Amino acid sequence: MFSFLRPFIFSLDPEKAHELAIKSLKYNFLPGNLFSVENEEILKTTLFGKEIENPIGLAAGFDKSAEVYNEIFKLGFGFVEVGTVTPREQYGNEKPRIFRLEKDRALINRLGFNNDGSEVIKKRIENNVPNGLLGINIGPNKDSPDMINDFLECAEIFFPLGDYITINISSPNTKGLREFHKSDHLKELLSKIDDIRKKSNFNKSFLLKISPDLEDSFVNNIIELILQHNIDGLILTNTTNQNRENLLDKSKSESGGLSGKPLRNLSTELIKKFYIHLKGKIPIIGVGGVDSGKSAFEKLAAGASAIQLYTGMVYKGPTIVKEIKKELIDTMKEKGFKNIKDIVGSNLN
Ligand SMILES: Cc1cc2nc3c(=O)[nH]c(=O)nc-3n(C[C@H](O)[C@H](O)[C@H](O)COP(=O)(O)O)c2cc1C
Repeated sequence: MFSFLRPFIFSLDPEKAHELAIKSLKYNFLPGNLFSVENEEILKTTLFGKEIENPIGLAAGFDKSAEVYNEIFKLGFGFVEVGTVTPREQYGNEKPRIFRLEKDRALINRLGFNNDGSEVIKKRIENNVPNGLLGINIGPNKDSPDMINDFLECAEIFFPLGDYITINISSPNTKGLREFHKSDHLKELLSKIDDIRKKSNFNKSFLLKISPDLEDSFVNNIIELILQHNIDGLILTNTTNQNRENLLDKSKSESGGLSGKPLRNLSTELIKKFYIHLKGKIPIIGVGGVDSGKSAFEKLAAGASAIQLYTGMVYKGPTIVKEIKKELIDTMKEKGFKNIKDIVGSNLN
């Protein structure tokens, strides 16, 4: 069905196509079992203390304002991350701001955290109990005089609602945000986030989402700080500013973050580096260019406990999770893995 519709969908402006996808999902016509596959029990795993059906999640940025997460669970995803949510509603950058690089199986986006704002999104989630593990990704408003304050405001609001909260310091489209990868900035942010956890009785998790454009010297410092301040997991990675040289599509020079296939190896290599240093102390969610069972397996074997995807779904359509599940099960059988946890980091043992 998707391959039949794809020429039509790809004739639309990418942001229009995305709006259409959100609208169609809102109709909620999908039966619950359409995307299940044989023997999928083998994919069950746990993430942050909760059992999930499979380790395949939807990455932040698709359901930015938490409108359709329960419909997305029906596509077969094991978990969903909504956001990035900012304290106040935000329009984002001028359009056009998403570009399809079809020849490269990639996207470039410079959306700039367009979302409905924390108040509206909080009510939306309160009125629509999630049918699975829900992550909420938070960030600062573009014109914020104090970015740390924005993070704290959103953390206070969403900590009771999500299974995990992602502190997003890695979007390339909000000026100054990536400065939080530096030790002194990160230390201040994480110690204040830790205070929120200490004040509350919730058994929820805080994750940090990191840029792939990171010099090696940052890895050790980041690890030291996240362990010191009780961060529960990492998301590796956001979109990249690099890797444009070898791209084929004419849109390759658009400014913004590059996602999809050209990001795949960059993020997998960073997962390996973090996994080797972390030695399994906290889970890593691997994201960047996953669009098949093989690329999902690669991320797990490099040290990710679960994976997420976004761009893959743009190119392969809503049956992508079903496809990945099937291929992952086949690969597990072929290589003799009985569960997901045994795959994690197996490439490095
Ligand atoms: C159109 C678009 C919007 C995105 N918006 C966000 C966002 O708001 N917050 C965020 O943390 N990541 C955002 N991302 C990054 C994705 O979550 C993911 O980290 C990245 O795209 C790499 O995964 P992929 O190659 O599977 O797309 C966005 C990505 C795309 C393509």
